[in-house]
Amino acid sequence: MEFLEFRRVYKIYNNGIRALTNINLEVRDGEFVFLLGPTGAGKSTIMKLLIREEIPTSGDVWLEGFRVNRLEDEHLPYLRRNIGIVFQDLRLLPMRTVFENLVFPLEVMGLRRTLMNRLARDVLEVLSLEEKRNHLVEWLSGGEKQKLCVGRAVIHQPKLVLADEPTGNLDGRSAYEMVSGLFQLCREGGSTVIMATHNERIVKTFPGRRVYLDKGEIVRDNIEE
Ligand SMILES: Nc1ncnc2c1ncn2[C@@H]1O[C@H](COP(=O)(O)OP(=O)(O)O)[C@@H](O)[C@H]1O
Ligand SMILES: [Mg+2]
Repeated sequence: MEFLEFRRVYKIYNNGIRALTNINLEVRDGEFVFLLGPTGAGKSTIMKLLIREEIPTSGDVWLEGFRVNRLEDEHLPYLRRNIGIVFQDLRLLPMRTVFENLVFPLEVMGLRRTLMNRLARDVLEVLSLEEKRNHLVEWLSGGEKQKLCVGRAVIHQPKLVLADEPTGNLDGRSAYEMVSGLFQLCREGGSTVIMATHNERIVKTFPGRRVYLDKGEIVRDNIEE
């Protein structure tokens, strides 16, 4: 069994919309997968099934040998601790510093201060945010905030990182820097990544697998090419 598997997954929302039709997808440990496709293709639904925000209408979602759609509710916090999420709406603490936002997940885990500092230093360096370490988040540009979100999602080196349209409204250069940072940090931390985007231009310069969704179906997967 692979690290992550969708097996004959269908998702029909309560309003009758068929968001996913017979999704079969296997992702190996450490892979970087771009999930591409137009708005409404089903990309976010795939993410929601992985964190069990939604459950499939039929079929199974497996992650590290666990059937996510059948997990007991008491195991959900464990599942979600092992997934780093780059949120579209950022969810940063504006009146706190870059450093404070970054180490927030580590504080929750009770990590030692010295280890926290080291992890933060490495992440800030890759994201070129060292000089902003003690700046308040509200002073940052949009691109810097988005990079900080990437840092916060990956700093605890989760097994799986999910980024749903993380480049948002960023201009080409900021988007490129953000994706580069995500790429490098996840390579170093050994995390598997699924990044959804409808903007194919942004990912063109990156290596990695490309899975194309359209109207809820996988229409192309370059792992087979
Ligand atoms: N909570 C929901 N209830 C009903 N329909 C939904 C819900 N979430 C998404 N959809 C519909 O499911 C389809 C796929 O949506 P989504 O997974 O968000 O696609 P994408 O992220 O690729 O834009 C769309 O038609 C969307 O309107
Ligand atoms: Mg979406």
